[in-house]
Amino acid sequence: MMRGGASAVSLLVFLVFSSATVSLTCGAGLHLELTHVDAGGSYTTAERARRAVERSQRRLGCKPSAGDVHAPVKWAGLAAGEDVAEVPIGDPARRVEAIVDTGSDFIWTQCTACLPDHCFKQNVPLYNYSASHSAKPVPCTDKLCKGDVAVYGCDRQDGSCVFKVGYVSGAFAGHLGKEVFTFPSGAVELAFGCVSRNSIGEGGFDGPSGILGLGRGVLSLVSQTAAGKFSYCLTPYASGDKVSSHLFVGDSANLTGESPVLSIKFVKNPTDRPYYLYYYLPLVGITVGKTRLPIPSTLFDLRQVGPGNWSGGVLIDSGSTISLLVDGAYKALAAELTKQIGGNPVPPPSTTLAEMLDLCFARGDVDKKAPALLLHFSAGVDMPVPPANYWMPVDNSTACMAIARSNDTSSIIGNFQQQDLHVLYDLEQGQLSFQPADCSKL
Ligand SMILES: *[C@@H]1O[C@H](CO)[C@@H](O)[C@H](O)[C@H]1NC(C)=O
Ligand SMILES: *[C@@H]1O[C@H](CO)[C@@H](O)[C@H](O)[C@H]1NC(C)=O
Ligand SMILES: *[C@@H]1O[C@H](CO)[C@@H](O)[C@H](O)[C@H]1NC(C)=O
Ligand SMILES: *[C@@H]1O[C@H](CO)[C@@H](O)[C@H](O)[C@H]1NC(C)=O
Ligand SMILES: *[C@@H]1O[C@H](CO)[C@@H](O)[C@H](O)[C@H]1NC(C)=O
Repeated sequence: MMRGGASAVSLLVFLVFSSATVSLTCGAGLHLELTHVDAGGSYTTAERARRAVERSQRRLGCKPSAGDVHAPVKWAGLAAGEDVAEVPIGDPARRVEAIVDTGSDFIWTQCTACLPDHCFKQNVPLYNYSASHSAKPVPCTDKLCKGDVAVYGCDRQDGSCVFKVGYVSGAFAGHLGKEVFTFPSGAVELAFGCVSRNSIGEGGFDGPSGILGLGRGVLSLVSQTAAGKFSYCLTPYASGDKVSSHLFVGDSANLTGESPVLSIKFVKNPTDRPYYLYYYLPLVGITVGKTRLPIPSTLFDLRQVGPGNWSGGVLIDSGSTISLLVDGAYKALAAELTKQIGGNPVPPPSTTLAEMLDLCFARGDVDKKAPALLLHFSAGVDMPVPPANYWMPVDNSTACMAIARSNDTSSIIGNFQQQDLHVLYDLEQGQLSFQPADCSKL
């Protein structure tokens, strides 16, 4: 989520826990307060929009490393993280700042082992594995070493597990270790990646030091803690720095508000890498105002196109700001909106924005005429998307649609569309539930 920047303090995240006595796996679960990656930066609306688009591009832009990594295509769009959790790790405890990402499953942070020019800038000091009394290597023989990491291997010197994971936007590599994550609800030992080189680019994530993956793989926070469910509630982009978003993991994740709760069954997941990581939803159509777009529901289908090769599908992701729609749906949506909003689309105010967002109007026209969208899922469940959840003000006079054209066959529901929505991922029930909420009040 993108938020305004008034505070001069660069504290990115706060942690508050629902319980101080019980452990994560058998108690009430954990509650993390999240702040937006640009919080505290005093950015104008336009700057925040530009920074979000640039972050997305850094991750989407192709910069494959030495050619030695398998590059799971979908990762690129999914790592565009925006909401950041601060977690103390190690003994003595040191802060790491991690982007909360349902589109990946790895927990990682950059370490002091970083090779010169091979790691990006981050707000907190690099984590020093050797200085922590609670850090342990994961031996090559450990099943976690063969868990989920795209490429793994063995450090011949000490028999510890090393990994290499590719994004389309770059790759990262390092040692797999275990470390104590000190949640007040109980310290939890988690396997995590101590990254010593990556090719994500100097700008990195605009501050955070790593990623907290919530995907389906065995190395994610939900899997390692056997939490079974988690939820998040993201405060609106426009609400400024002073309110935090929320992440609940385990029993504390439940939808207790007054508004009606709707549930969508996840699409049955492929077992192939990297597709098994994602949360796929059965999107079948889109209504714009009162007009249902004339597009076939098969546009959104997830289908197998070869051994281990899947195409299409619609992922829900907390780590991407901008949503992506497969070309046929994007074109129909843009055409219908242009018709309903009337007037003339205006060009995006900067070339950076124009590379991703190409449907922009005068803010006055958007405020007066932009309709709500309705995303139709199978079994008759509809998710309303109010104008504020898909129009991003990019300067004083212009708003652009925060939905871009996908460059491949898959679509992504990003976090801009999930503002003020409490979203629960129930892995045991195999469904996603959501409820409109005032996320600042949770
Ligand atoms: C990391 O910690 C070790 C052990 O305390 C120390 O020798 C080393 O200098 C530290 N490295 C950095 C980069 O601070
Ligand atoms: C929601 O979670 C809280 C914290 O664990 C718990 O006290 C409460 O009973 C739960 N509510 C429901 C409806 O399950
Ligand atoms: C997967 O299938 C698509 C479409 O047939 C093809 O373009 C692509 O190269 C395949 N990818 C892999 C990794 O085989
Ligand atoms: C945008 O509006 C704000 C508040 O009205 C004003 O302070 C600022 O100068 C305007 N910026 C531009 C570029 O017009
Ligand atoms: C799609 O590809 C074009 C050309 O390679 C690139 O400029 C654009 O940023 C890409 N957009 C997305 C959303 O990936």
